[in-house]
Amino acid sequence: MTTSPTSQDDKPVAPLSLGILISGRGSNMKAIYGAIQDGEINAHIAVVVSDNPESEGLAWAAANGLKTASFSRQAFAKKSDFETAILKTLADHGVDWVVLAGYMRLVGKTLLTPYQGRMVNIHPSLLPAFPGLHAQAQALAYGVKVSGCTVHLVDNTMDGGPIIAQEVVPVLPEDTVASLSDRILSVEHVLFSRVLKVISQGF
Ligand code: GRF
Repeated sequence: MTTSPTSQDDKPVAPLSLGILISGRGSNMKAIYGAIQDGEINAHIAVVVSDNPESEGLAWAAANGLKTASFSRQAFAKKSDFETAILKTLADHGVDWVVLAGYMRLVGKTLLTPYQGRMVNIHPSLLPAFPGLHAQAQALAYGVKVSGCTVHLVDNTMDGGPIIAQEVVPVLPEDTVASLSDRILSVEHVLFSRVLKVISQGF
């Protein structure tokens, strides 16, 4: 009996090679790592790339034996040069899919074009509501009664690509940005892994 993941037509599917891009804490990256370790996602993390050499998530990735690389935007004259360096790292590690897990930059054409349709992002709102920064604060200020998170394919707009999946959480009268962010984050961790599981099954 085989335990290999199979596609819809029952052919075995090779593990996905993921490149995870982060800027900070990396809790979504950690959740994805855990889901891979648990055998839930048929993938391996080929490399973790950060635009912030000091990011907590990058240190965690290195301490857990993952390959890491970091590139400061300031070290490059042009955004396209910065993205060419990231792209080369992804190619050197044989990355199939790029996962933006708290990568706080708009992806430019240089990086997007080779991975268009194979790059996913998670955003802490029910898009198309509240794209960009401070989505949870925007949701509170607007007075919405539900919010949540969205996993979408990346295109050349800010948080605007085709939606793959969403998860909803309530917004409570006593919520602060911190409490709402925590509630959304807990469903982000589950939703992102669920989407990557489906992608890793070859759908
Ligand atoms: C998450 O809220 C994600 O939706 C947003 O940035 C945050 C990253 O958190 N894009 P973490 O670094 O994964 O902990």
